[in-house]
Amino acid sequence: MLKAKELLNQYTKETEDVILSYLPSEEGYQKTVLSAMNYSVKAGGKRLRPLLLMEIYRMFGGKGREAEPFMAAIEMIHTFSLVHDDLPCMDNDEFRRGLPTTWVKYGYDMAVLAGDGLYGYAFETAAKALEFTQNPARVARCMGILAQKSGIYGMIGGQTLDVELTKKPVNKEQLEFIYRLKTGALIECPMVIGAVLAGADEDQVSTVERMASCIGKAFQIQDDILDVTSSQEVLGKPVLSDEKNGKNTYVALYGMEQAKQAVKELSEEAVLALESLPGDHEFMRQLIMMLVTREK
Ligand code: IPE
Ligand code: IPE
Ligand code: MG
Ligand code: MG
Ligand code: MG
Repeated sequence: MLKAKELLNQYTKETEDVILSYLPSEEGYQKTVLSAMNYSVKAGGKRLRPLLLMEIYRMFGGKGREAEPFMAAIEMIHTFSLVHDDLPCMDNDEFRRGLPTTWVKYGYDMAVLAGDGLYGYAFETAAKALEFTQNPARVARCMGILAQKSGIYGMIGGQTLDVELTKKPVNKEQLEFIYRLKTGALIECPMVIGAVLAGADEDQVSTVERMASCIGKAFQIQDDILDVTSSQEVLGKPVLSDEKNGKNTYVALYGMEQAKQAVKELSEEAVLALESLPGDHEFMRQLIMMLVTREK
């Protein structure tokens, strides 16, 4: 059997191919926005969210191609969140995925439109799952999950509080809200979709959501840690962005040691939830533990 790291490389490559195959072609009068959309997606990234979608789908015995449009869709939505997150009015960052950010390359106006374009095209793409599925009702439910977890009750809701409370005092509940929504929701989204598409029962879907919520929170805390401890060369995005912006992060509020401890504990909690699920979850377990020590 391949080792987890090799499997991860293989799955990342497969995921990459799926994502690229669903990008719009850069033609017509709106070509500029299409180029800007594709630029940010093609720049790279870990492709973690679609990879998690596929792995959960496999774990629950999913075999068809119906997951593929959703894999591309979640990466488009995640990328849209990054394109807007980097804007001068938000985190004002100039580097992402090893390249100048979309607004630096294409201008503020096109970056706003590219984000909007990715968000809309994500749903256009997800709807293509109807061509592959035997279960249109599941696909419809997953479209709803995609909207909810990315929208006002998900990522956009979390980003709202993140931005609004920048340079202001936050309490524990507000910080939890920000993490659960701005990042947690976009990790829960693909994992729950993978489970639903593969026909998991309601208890299993809830367990997957709980597990994903722990992974999401751990993931954002690790992101905050790396913002302090890593380098732009390794991350492909600027470091010390949070300090520059006066962001309320777990590290700023509780200190580095407690942050590292929280990543470890949340990941262990996720693994515990995973153990109660059916299927072969050895790769998923190793993936969760790899995220604890990730360096980018
Ligand atoms: C960055 O996400 C934004 C956060 C939610 C922390 P990733 O670290 O997954 O970014 P890419 O996709 O690899 O570029
Ligand atoms: C962003 O959190 C989460 C999103 C919803 C985009 P950060 O602002 O910390 O993400 P990075 O560090 O810029 O990737
Ligand atoms: Mg931000
Ligand atoms: Mg940012
Ligand atoms: Mg960050």
